Amino acid sequence: MKYRIAVLPGDGVGPEVMAQALRILRAVGDDYGHEFGTTFGLVGGTAYDEYETHLPDETLALCETSDAVLFGSVGGPVIQQNQKKWKNCEANSILALRKHFKFNANYRPVRLQPEMEALCPLKKDVIGNGIDILFIRELLGDAYFGRKDSTTDSGQRVAWDESVYTEEQVRSVARAAFAAAKARRRKVTSVDKANVLEASRLWRTVVREVAQEFPAVELEEMLVDNFAMQLIKRPTDFDVVVTTNMFGDILTDEAAALAGSLGLLSSASLNTDGFGLYEPPGGSAPDIAGKGIANPIGQIMSVALMLRFSFGLEREANAIELAVEETLRAGYRTADIYRGEGTLVDTKQMTDQILARMPVRAVASA
Ligand code: IPM
Ligand code: MG
Repeated sequence: MKYRIAVLPGDGVGPEVMAQALRILRAVGDDYGHEFGTTFGLVGGTAYDEYETHLPDETLALCETSDAVLFGSVGGPVIQQNQKKWKNCEANSILALRKHFKFNANYRPVRLQPEMEALCPLKKDVIGNGIDILFIRELLGDAYFGRKDSTTDSGQRVAWDESVYTEEQVRSVARAAFAAAKARRRKVTSVDKANVLEASRLWRTVVREVAQEFPAVELEEMLVDNFAMQLIKRPTDFDVVVTTNMFGDILTDEAAALAGSLGLLSSASLNTDGFGLYEPPGGSAPDIAGKGIANPIGQIMSVALMLRFSFGLEREANAIELAVEETLRAGYRTADIYRGEGTLVDTKQMTDQILARMPVRAVASA
């Protein structure tokens, strides 16, 4: 079977880590006999240079005719935000893609093995047997896509962003969370701000309704401020965490710190038809772009998620994840996760080490 993949490396470190992730994808293809057809598309500032738009029609058409989208990262340096090339770059590219394909559920797994505790800023007794949380963030509602505007009122500049949820939006992502929890440790923590926000009160009501459909899964409800604290105090208590678009954006960066680095994280954005976009949520990191030192693991783990969610290739996804784990356990570290111990490696060397640990290759060279 041939799989068609739209590859959108984007800006900053995107192209560097994407090149390495594609080496892993090719290895999986060779090892397990799959044909992965990859076609490149421009997005972000890189697209702007050529087309004066952050999301060219050609790129959208490419995604539409593909089986999955592998995304790098977009955006430029903060001090250049007002240049045309970077202005509204994220909103015009990644947010537009989410909206166009109705990607409503964003899966962000956060894992920390006990033997990797040196990467985690928390104390050993808090980490216990390791952290394993699956964040499921709603991706199409909230202040991200509500009405927004700015004006001048009585000589004062005023701006607003409406935070809106429909019950269908909540139901859909809640079902995704309960379904995922059923296959894990059977607990869903729903995070909202129901003591203040009307949209959160609807969120809570609908999540409770969905919980009735999944009697085997425990539902825990938490206010976002408290959750932000509990995540640090007792991270091992959480299994699946489902939350709104804005809270999910913030909390998944917080959670990334527990796993050691944003550079280790991957994400899958799926719509209700199962079509998916896979991206590391770490951003384009323009400060280190072009140096070849970025951590490729987030992008590589995004490939694993693509194989699992879009193509049902569970064995192949596991092979990548295990190879990454073993590489980290063996002490290889890119600069973002280097704490003075182990072997400091660059983007390509990290990938070499992961490739060497892909099971079929390991057997072949034994
Ligand atoms: C993320 C990012 C995006 C978001 C930005 C780039 C618009 O931070 O995927 O978490 O806020 O959703
Ligand atoms: Mg974010």
